[in-house]
Amino acid sequence: MSIKNSVNTTPKLVIPTDTLDRTFSIAPMLDWTDRHYRYFARLMSSKALLYTEMITTGAILQGKGDYLAYNEQEHPVALQLGGSNAVDLAACAKLAAERGYDEVNLNVGCPSDRVQNGRFGACLMAEPALVAQCVDAMKQVTDIPITVKTRIGIDEQDSYQFLTDFIETVSAQGCSAFTIHARKAWLQGLSPKENREIPPLDYDRVYQLKRDYQHLNISINGGIKTLEESKLHLALLDGVMVGREAYQNPYILAQVDQQLCGLDTAVITRQQVIEQMLPYIEAHLAQGGRLNHITRHMIGLFQGLPGSRGWRRHLSENAHKPNADIGVVLKAAEFVDAEALASDESTLI
Ligand SMILES: Cc1cc2nc3c(=O)[nH]c(=O)nc-3n(C[C@H](O)[C@H](O)[C@H](O)COP(=O)(O)O)c2cc1C
Repeated sequence: MSIKNSVNTTPKLVIPTDTLDRTFSIAPMLDWTDRHYRYFARLMSSKALLYTEMITTGAILQGKGDYLAYNEQEHPVALQLGGSNAVDLAACAKLAAERGYDEVNLNVGCPSDRVQNGRFGACLMAEPALVAQCVDAMKQVTDIPITVKTRIGIDEQDSYQFLTDFIETVSAQGCSAFTIHARKAWLQGLSPKENREIPPLDYDRVYQLKRDYQHLNISINGGIKTLEESKLHLALLDGVMVGREAYQNPYILAQVDQQLCGLDTAVITRQQVIEQMLPYIEAHLAQGGRLNHITRHMIGLFQGLPGSRGWRRHLSENAHKPNADIGVVLKAAEFVDAEALASDESTLI
């Protein structure tokens, strides 16, 4: 027998230590958390884990554009994948790791018809063995963490047992971090938007999950609007994921590092955020990009403050025009109260 044949060549499952800090993350949001938003968000928090929009395996493997492009400043950044073909997911996870993504997350929470037709998203909760197979395939080809974002149930399948069966089956294949959107999804009859609002939130179910599966990293998602609320969740869980509030009122991010992650760095002011966006915007324009592709994500920067309407309106009415440049941003900022611009308070009332 040759030496080669006498060696057991079965690959060992090496579980790398996952050192990513998931205390606070920004949810994957289609059309919202693109690379421009993520760059903007990163200026306000160095610690928030940023998720891409969901990108389907089909887009990555067959699409024409570079769907994996991101800016180095975005780290830590996680790629969210939509798909259910283990081979395709593994190919995409490998590409993601090669491109330097810090994590790959599988979408098991989106209820849209389009996604269901592709047999992925929330409907995969009913197929835990398939999700486990997908996780396993991705883990075989990369060392970066493979995580899952899911709901607490789908349709009539909303018992705690249904959720734990799913979590147990998937974690058995090496997924050790889950983000749970704390409401179920109705796969028929509700739009994706309604599915983010109508099924009631059940935070207790997520707390129970953490109590019963201490070894897993569990983040909670759904309806979280303030850092104070985040702190309450963090007393019981490993992480919070914030979606709509982080987009519509992005300055909430400015104190994430200090209030949730223990840093004692200075809080960036809104004025500094704008100043630091300007070179990024100019580089984008110099490459032929449109101003509103970036400024549409900045509309909520002054949410609730004097002058926020003028800021919003000026950007909305002008940033899409041909040849619109940073002058539009500077002009929009003139509508804002000087105190609001310079303040690092999240609300000034
Ligand atoms: C515009 C929009 C797009 C979304 N796209 C995705 C997506 O691509 N992948 C995903 O897992 N969830 C997606 N979601 C759901 C969010 O990630 C999150 O689970 C949901 O908004 C609840 O969190 P929130 O109450 O903090 O917003 C989307 C939500 C919104 C508002």
